[in-house]
Amino acid sequence: MRVAMIGTGYVGLVSGACLSEFGHHVVCVDKDAGKIAALKAGKIPIFEPGLDEVVAANVKAGRLSFTDTLSDAVTAADAVFIAVGTPSRRGDGHADLSFVFAAAEEIAKAMDGYTVVVTKSTVPVGTSRKVEDVIRKARPDAKCDVVSNPEFLREGSAIEDFRRPDRVVVGCDTDRAREVLTEIYRPLYLNETPILFTSRESSELIKYAANAFLATKITFINEMADICEKVGADVQDVARGMGLDGRIGNKFLHAGPGFGGSCFPKDTLALLKTSQEVGAKTRIVEAVVAVNDRRKSDMAQKIEAALGGVSGKTIAVLGLTFKPNTDDMRDAPSLVIVPYLQEKGAHIRAYDPEGAQEARKLLQVETCDDAYEPMKGADAVVILTEWNEFRALDLERVKTLLKTPLMVDLRNIYRASQMEASGFTYVSVGRGTSGQS
Ligand SMILES: NC(=O)c1ccc[n+]([C@@H]2O[C@H](COP(=O)([O-])OP(=O)(O)OC[C@H]3O[C@@H](n4cnc5c(N)ncnc54)[C@H](O)[C@@H]3O)[C@@H](O)[C@H]2O)c1
Repeated sequence: MRVAMIGTGYVGLVSGACLSEFGHHVVCVDKDAGKIAALKAGKIPIFEPGLDEVVAANVKAGRLSFTDTLSDAVTAADAVFIAVGTPSRRGDGHADLSFVFAAAEEIAKAMDGYTVVVTKSTVPVGTSRKVEDVIRKARPDAKCDVVSNPEFLREGSAIEDFRRPDRVVVGCDTDRAREVLTEIYRPLYLNETPILFTSRESSELIKYAANAFLATKITFINEMADICEKVGADVQDVARGMGLDGRIGNKFLHAGPGFGGSCFPKDTLALLKTSQEVGAKTRIVEAVVAVNDRRKSDMAQKIEAALGGVSGKTIAVLGLTFKPNTDDMRDAPSLVIVPYLQEKGAHIRAYDPEGAQEARKLLQVETCDDAYEPMKGADAVVILTEWNEFRALDLERVKTLLKTPLMVDLRNIYRASQMEASGFTYVSVGRGTSGQS
């Protein structure tokens, strides 16, 4: 199959590279000429573990190439994937579909012969039909089908998620398009990956429902963490006790500073918009959005309280990205917590293994080159993201560097008893302070 991937970001680049690994000929397109120039020079513009190797191997095999000229990729393609961004629209939280429709118009002008256009971007129910309208208006003679194929990969483990997904969802209305998508995902059929064919509406809603459900799980355990702190329970024990129940499962039950990232915040908001528009309120998702928004500033206040006020104090922050193994800063809790502390007079020195460059675009923060550097003379160390390298800090060294041995761990990566034995005052989430849990 000849595939064009429109949008070469976190989803488009991973999907394009992995589809070429499946044996298809893939051309990745981006209107950001700098990104394409970097890719052509063998540089990966984002941090995603393992992506560089997959890209290099498939470029070498002649199955993967890059262009900033959409028509070069689309004219020869059997399938064109739209993987452009769908951020929250400023002001109303609706998914901004302008990039999707702009891409659809360009695709319409360039397509030649029967083409399947696939919306891989996360788009509200009804969008695939609207994409089809845009294409048919621009090219009444177009021979095409538009299908929905939402993506479920997680940044940080995106390659493995694409190679071995829990399921593939395809929303399509014609047998011809179904055959093309079946061919594209044939290697996954061989792995016995469930491939779910549904209507386009169901497919589009599956993506939002799945993300809203996961966001709800996180928010639920965060609220349980607050109760734990009041009653002297340990949220990690509570989560484990809940998660061992097969009906519940242990994933997404880690208490922390609230969900962030490029998907959950915007997708929960977009689902709320859809629900309001169609007159089917989702009060659960409404509460999730409100509770999660509040959580980030609550966590900033938790840090403030742990230090007994932050004015004039220096805080070493470990981790700025919304989760480990990515450089993605979109909607990261650090974007609320760091400015809050700075406003209250704190000096923040931070270290993030991969996110510093992105972070400096969004935060006025001094960044350091390793985990220990920001601790020199600091009043406390705060863990915001659970990068693996923060799990085994040399605690003796940390103690000698800090002015006072205080750690606020918003990801619960240490045990209170261990920290107490090491002479730290340790504040975590849902477990009370050291000595109390
Ligand atoms: N990031 C994730 O983990 C994830 C997971 C599942 C689904 N999604 C969804 O996938 C979509 C893409 O997300 P992302 O994180 O990859 O976005 P991104 O911002 O990283 O990448 C989007 C890319 O599209 C390019 N682009 C925009 N319009 C274009 C056009 N007309 N022609 C060519 N290129 C164009 C941009 O330059 C950018 O490089 C979104 O709808 C998102 O919700 C993201």
